[in-house]
Amino acid sequence: MCGIVGYIGNNDTKDVLLNGLEKLEYRGYDSAGIATLNPEGLHLFKVKGRIAALRDKVDVTVQSTMGIGHTRWATHGEPSEDNAHPHQSSTGRFTLVHNGVIENYYEVREQYLTDVELKSETDTEIVVQLIEVLYGQTNDVLVAFRQAMSILKGSYAIALIDQDNPDAIYVAKNKSPLLVGLGEGFNLVASDAMATLKETEKYLEIEDKEVVIVKREAVEIQKLDGTIVDRKPYVAEIDAADTEKGTYAHFMLKEIDEQPIVMRKIIQKYQDEHGEIQLEDDVRQAMTQADRIYIIAAGTSYHAGLVGKQFIEKLAQVPVEVHISSEFSYNMPLLSEKPLFVFISQSGETADSRSVLVKTKALGHKALTITNVPGSTLSREADYTLHLHAGPEIAVASTKAYTAQIAVLALLAVGTAKAKCLHLHFDPLKELAIVASAMESLTDQKEAFEQLAKDLFSTTRNAFFIGRGNDYFVVQEAALKLKEISYIQAEGFAGGELKHGTIALIEDDTPVVAISTQENVNLSIRGNVQEVVARGAKAAIVSMKGLEKDSDAFVLPKVHELLTPLVSVIPMQLLSYYAALHRDCDVDKPRNLAKSVTVE
Ligand code: F6R
Repeated sequence: MCGIVGYIGNNDTKDVLLNGLEKLEYRGYDSAGIATLNPEGLHLFKVKGRIAALRDKVDVTVQSTMGIGHTRWATHGEPSEDNAHPHQSSTGRFTLVHNGVIENYYEVREQYLTDVELKSETDTEIVVQLIEVLYGQTNDVLVAFRQAMSILKGSYAIALIDQDNPDAIYVAKNKSPLLVGLGEGFNLVASDAMATLKETEKYLEIEDKEVVIVKREAVEIQKLDGTIVDRKPYVAEIDAADTEKGTYAHFMLKEIDEQPIVMRKIIQKYQDEHGEIQLEDDVRQAMTQADRIYIIAAGTSYHAGLVGKQFIEKLAQVPVEVHISSEFSYNMPLLSEKPLFVFISQSGETADSRSVLVKTKALGHKALTITNVPGSTLSREADYTLHLHAGPEIAVASTKAYTAQIAVLALLAVGTAKAKCLHLHFDPLKELAIVASAMESLTDQKEAFEQLAKDLFSTTRNAFFIGRGNDYFVVQEAALKLKEISYIQAEGFAGGELKHGTIALIEDDTPVVAISTQENVNLSIRGNVQEVVARGAKAAIVSMKGLEKDSDAFVLPKVHELLTPLVSVIPMQLLSYYAALHRDCDVDKPRNLAKSVTVE
């Protein structure tokens, strides 16, 4: 979490930094700051709160052609102005921004900084203080910077400026994302290319344990021992327009509406010229050789994994286990002889998932990452990558990435089944096209979901979602979506499990939403709805064409029974969106959260 940005060039830097931070706000938004350097000295502006508040605080009369900025999601130390970045060394000579977590914080403090009075509660401040102490011993900023990076343990993307040298930004990376953007007469630093797309499309990837000296006209990458690294730039494939809200009030609504387009893009990208599913040979080989697949993911991506397990087991006939990444390392199951690890991650940066990747790679196992960000850490460190093609997802609550993950998992399963010469009566490309149209018809009926959200969630403190079979996976996602953006305490339950305890929570007017898209459980889930209604619940059933009853709150268009999660989730996303909207919640930036969770 946290986002960093830096600029060095010939124009004033304030707007580049503030605009860049706005684009990085999805990474954290509890405090922010910028530091700029000009012949009068260093100018530091920090706030507790959002970039909009920082914009108000920055002195517009200060002009400078280099600077760094930061938007924070607090790890060490509460959100406050003191704990906001940039942090300065005791003499004020060095100023630094950091994204990540320094694990040997106490050791560094004990060994190097016993005489230094710290001004904040952050792990970041010890980095800038350490650089100053090491500079005192070496009298060389670059050497001190490299030495400090060799001492630090943990994750970091760092940008440092030196008051005595307005011609360089010193940058370093380990495990946290960081790119250097290349321009004509200027260069940039950013946690994500999205921050600086207005300025440039050309980027240099930085690898772990590298430092970079970024100047106006030149960029030099070095290893920690000073060896120079040669690296070719690449062109970022993100369309700057995709990072704007356009006419939408919120990114979340825009991203919900984009789901049919994403389905069609996935169909196009995963199809060869004969209309067959196209999987890279090595991915197909890894899938067919595996005797068991271990899906590792967090949050919404974990929920997509639960659906994906059904595809891979039913279509490709390979056993699958789905694990929450933050638990896997502590409860590692007995592994099969030929496991394949599949990491599902929108951002490709989730630290919990990465830590499993590192451990399983160390055991010699192969890994496939399914991600929306091909150059991300999980993508680079895995053996193979499948791209989601969902376009930038900016709202903190994931929507289009979830459906893209499910669609790609379906194609992966069918591609594997075909490679194993299994006979299937399922054409996923055709079925996904039907899904895309069904999604469109749902996003066209927003008023219905807005009204239902008002009826169910306007004043409630809690809510339940129930389903069976495939619908059970979707109700878990529905509950997560509702609670993260509307702060209503919500649970997704297996319909049959309610009576084993949870039904005790049902009172008059408790909202219960049931999904019923599976013929084999249609009657039993309706029975569960009757049980909660008999205890006073306000129930709403979302069913599917062919299974509906007159009293249902909404009937979904019919799609293939394996793919129902792709359509049944749309009303759930819209219900959450409107619940949050009408409760005056900050839909795109819910409290306490950040989009990319880069701490364990
Ligand atoms: C919820 C949400 C999170 C993420 C989770 C994993 O709407 O977005 O639960 O799904 O933090 O993130 P990724 O997919 O980036 O690994």
